[in-house]
Amino acid sequence: MKHLTGLYGLPAESLHDILDLAAGYRAGLRQETPAFNPELGNKRVALVFFENSTRTRFSFELAARHLGAGTLSFTAASSSVSKGETLSDTIRNLEAMQVDAFVLRHPSSGAADFVSSITELPVVNAGDGTHEHPTQALLDILTLREYFGRIAGIKVMILGDVLHSRVARSNIFGLRTLGAEIAVCGPATLLPGGIGEMGIRIFTGLDEAIAWADAAIVLRLQLERATGGFIPSLQEYSASYGLTDEKLDRLRKHLPVLHPGPINREIEISNHVADRIQPPGYSSSMLMEQVTNGVAVRMAVLHRLLAG
Ligand code: NCD
Repeated sequence: MKHLTGLYGLPAESLHDILDLAAGYRAGLRQETPAFNPELGNKRVALVFFENSTRTRFSFELAARHLGAGTLSFTAASSSVSKGETLSDTIRNLEAMQVDAFVLRHPSSGAADFVSSITELPVVNAGDGTHEHPTQALLDILTLREYFGRIAGIKVMILGDVLHSRVARSNIFGLRTLGAEIAVCGPATLLPGGIGEMGIRIFTGLDEAIAWADAAIVLRLQLERATGGFIPSLQEYSASYGLTDEKLDRLRKHLPVLHPGPINREIEISNHVADRIQPPGYSSSMLMEQVTNGVAVRMAVLHRLLAG
């Protein structure tokens, strides 16, 4: 593996390898004062972010630091991009300063593959348009694997704005490779065409999806990408597709609930579902577990791309 631009086509062995390494780092992060070998000492990771981010960026930064690597941060708004510099010129200039890897977030689908085609350095896709967000899916998969002890055979429902979601796409690719059953649930206007042909179940009613699923990945309604026309109103969306206690309790269904964040509280997920931590066997929010697992997964990815 030279780059990680997506989970599409990545074989099960590579996924298991990253997840196993991440599980080891996750155990280390449970210690009161996590300490790791500085395996990436003297490496420099450039975090090149053309879109806003809280979790992903902090997470990559911490992951690099835990392994002894240095990080350089970049935000488009405060860089020469605002003076019209092209993406390839930006990358070439950072390369000339001898960074060792790029972590890229960009609003254009395909940006990460483009960058990987113009540089010899490893590129990690931290989200490109509506294409892929592989480390988010890996952290979701790690969270599910730790909860169920396996991925093969579990039924995962992906709820909401699948059409605009790079997280959904990466999860579909990764989870399928590892043998999970997948369903999507949402209004037809927010489900990509042709998804049924991929062997994925489609539910347009949330009750049936909840009854079917072992776990739910709730997606953010991407208000900045979906500029109207996809749903009648936020209230109607949340009445039909918002995940609430009432809906889970009515079906007496207990699910681990994941969400990549940031959440729109009381739109796609109720406060109580987002915040409720319960032992396995009850519906429980996995959101903070996901965030911590994100650091472990990014440590594993940086290690695989940069060590040796
Ligand atoms: C996601 C993203 O940016 O794709 N967030 C994240 O990385 N944690 C999902 C989203 O923005 O809805």
